[in-house]
Amino acid sequence: MKQTIGILLSLLLVGTSWSQTEGEINKKVASLISRMTLEEKIGQLTLYTSGWDQTGPTLRSEYMEDVRSGRCGNLFNAHTAEYNRGLQKVAVEETRLGIPLLFGYDVIHGYKTIFPIPLAEACSWDMNLIEKSARLAAKEAAAAGLHWTFNPMVDISRDPRWGRIAEGAGEDPYLGGLIAAAKVKGHQGEELSDPSTLLACVKHFAAYGGAQAGRDYHTVDMSDRVLRETYLPPYKAAIDAGAATVMTAFNEVDGVPATGSKYLMEDILRKEWDFDGFIVTDYTAINEMVPHGYALDNQHAAELAINVGVDMDMQGAVYQNHLEKLVLEGKVSEDDINASVSRILKYKYKLGLFDDPYRYSDAEREKEVVFSKEMMDHSLEAGRKSIVLLKNISVNGKKLLPIDPTTKNIAIIGPLGNNKEDQLGTWHASGDVNKAITLFEALKTALPNANISYTEGCKTSGADQSGFKDALEAARKADIIIMAIGEDYRQSGEAASRSELGLPGKQQALLEAIHQLNKPIVSVVMAGRPLTIGWMEDNLSAIVYAWHLGTMAGPAIADVLLGAYNPSGKLVITFPRNVGQIPIYYSMKNTGRPFDANNKYTSKYLDVENTPLYPFGYGLSYTDFEYSNLRMSNKTLNGDGSINVNIQVKNTGALKGVETIQLYTQDLVGSVTRPVKELKDFRQIELSPGESKVVSFTITSDDLRFHTQNMEYKAEPGKFTLYIGGNSVDVLSADFEYKN
Ligand code: GLC
Repeated sequence: MKQTIGILLSLLLVGTSWSQTEGEINKKVASLISRMTLEEKIGQLTLYTSGWDQTGPTLRSEYMEDVRSGRCGNLFNAHTAEYNRGLQKVAVEETRLGIPLLFGYDVIHGYKTIFPIPLAEACSWDMNLIEKSARLAAKEAAAAGLHWTFNPMVDISRDPRWGRIAEGAGEDPYLGGLIAAAKVKGHQGEELSDPSTLLACVKHFAAYGGAQAGRDYHTVDMSDRVLRETYLPPYKAAIDAGAATVMTAFNEVDGVPATGSKYLMEDILRKEWDFDGFIVTDYTAINEMVPHGYALDNQHAAELAINVGVDMDMQGAVYQNHLEKLVLEGKVSEDDINASVSRILKYKYKLGLFDDPYRYSDAEREKEVVFSKEMMDHSLEAGRKSIVLLKNISVNGKKLLPIDPTTKNIAIIGPLGNNKEDQLGTWHASGDVNKAITLFEALKTALPNANISYTEGCKTSGADQSGFKDALEAARKADIIIMAIGEDYRQSGEAASRSELGLPGKQQALLEAIHQLNKPIVSVVMAGRPLTIGWMEDNLSAIVYAWHLGTMAGPAIADVLLGAYNPSGKLVITFPRNVGQIPIYYSMKNTGRPFDANNKYTSKYLDVENTPLYPFGYGLSYTDFEYSNLRMSNKTLNGDGSINVNIQVKNTGALKGVETIQLYTQDLVGSVTRPVKELKDFRQIELSPGESKVVSFTITSDDLRFHTQNMEYKAEPGKFTLYIGGNSVDVLSADFEYKN
């Protein structure tokens, strides 16, 4: 008891930073900076990867010497309470000023317990779920010595060739913005002084997802209007949600590499959005301004980056090697360096690291939190809600799904059916493969009396078909076949763009060979991106898109296949019929010659329809929902008025189910052409069989704003159409007019 009182008193006397105001922290930061040498200041602008993990093209063996000398004040890819405590001890006890290290890591969809990849979880359209995933990931990572995650990745992408589409929230800026904010709130919690929180880092600023041809790191070239209408909103939403840090993108935008862009880093981020956190580069992104052809050499690159306010150099060593000389040459002002150092130290104070540098490195807490039941249960819940049912039609009067639990013989075939690592997906951090439960394992547990076989059949790459024989043999013995096919975890994510989007390796051949047996087949696709699965759509009666769902992927998929969970996911990314259609997304423009089957001279392909294989917002349920009685309170929206919109939704099927009701608008005439649809709101409701509900929305002029021809962000008077439905195509519509 006495000891507790002593600790409390000392905290009160010392004044913990978490009880101090911004002003008191700023004073402490200024005082510390006044005692730092230029070299020590530059050390705080330096971030190196530990030798533990490699997430980019370079490694440095001397990072510990840099820490010891104070020339490196931040590390990433180092984790566990014990390992980070040891590193922190070096910084705190062996450097002149004892400034604590900041530890960062890519906790993208879980730290040890892995949740669905972001593209999958976005298909839940469940902001509470998404925020909870970020909260739990932070709780688990913070218990393991981490202070900062390089997340959320909020890059909009409309090109599934781009491997990093797996890490984002799909094609829509409105939904992407809500998800970005949910993740920032989840990671940072209510107070950064809470040791279960992490600094968020919104990335990759900006427009990394707009890479030409979906080729990673490729050129990004777009109008300012497209940049602001489509790509910027999710970054802004993350900043507005309080994101502490921003990461620069590798790519150029309109000819200027993001990491050296005054327009992006100063004009937009600092001035328009009033961002006061710190900016970290992506991995050696400053150095890369040389191959971009924007900097003469690394010294010039360092000068360009620091002079647009880029605070921290990830792994490039250019600040460490060149800033001092640039200051002496008068090309960089020490005031600017002080400003950068101040932005970084402020967060070390906010995290409470100056009061207790080891408060995140508590091995006891780590043992309690990592892989707790809470984590595993959430991984299952998130997995279930991320699954999208793409097809489930009756054959001979019966639907294959949900699978009859009395089924005797089930054959699981395909390389994703029993692979613990692939189901974790890209960027699975320190996910423990041994904790992952596969589909094969989960089905055996769920159906102990069934005879369930597993045959790999083939790999996810290569041309070897020697496994087909065993697969066919297993299929012949089965009453139902579950094909578990798709991509392995390396086939999406960073530096993993694909020019073709079919099933990789010989999986399509395996699928067609099994299909020849004329037996019931359920296809479960696990992938990090939309695949061109038109053959499945044409030839199979049941298709489940299970992405890469993480540690509990197996039980989540089994719950859907067996009907323990009625699938509710809705696509957040359009599925193309083939690569030739890309980019294809729901909010395209109408063009001057919209497709007309009766007129040759209209916008189309000779060899494929304009429509996607599956549209944005699409996802089936084991029950059915009927939409009716679309009602608007008035047909005219005046100035600061609003229109109330009601829609009746009824569950006309036999099972309880969750439906995501989506509301889109179309601005029929604008001072610039406008998309044929834009998502503006949605509701999620659960309905029992036969139950119906009236769902209400409110539209105001704020919902109609866009960047007009002279780049003003406002709504323009005119005619609009409103669409409501369970996806972006099957909708009820009504017209209204806005008069400002
Ligand atoms: C990588 C990624 C970035 C990640 C960083 C650190 O190259 O582009 O998203 O946060 O390096 O691992």
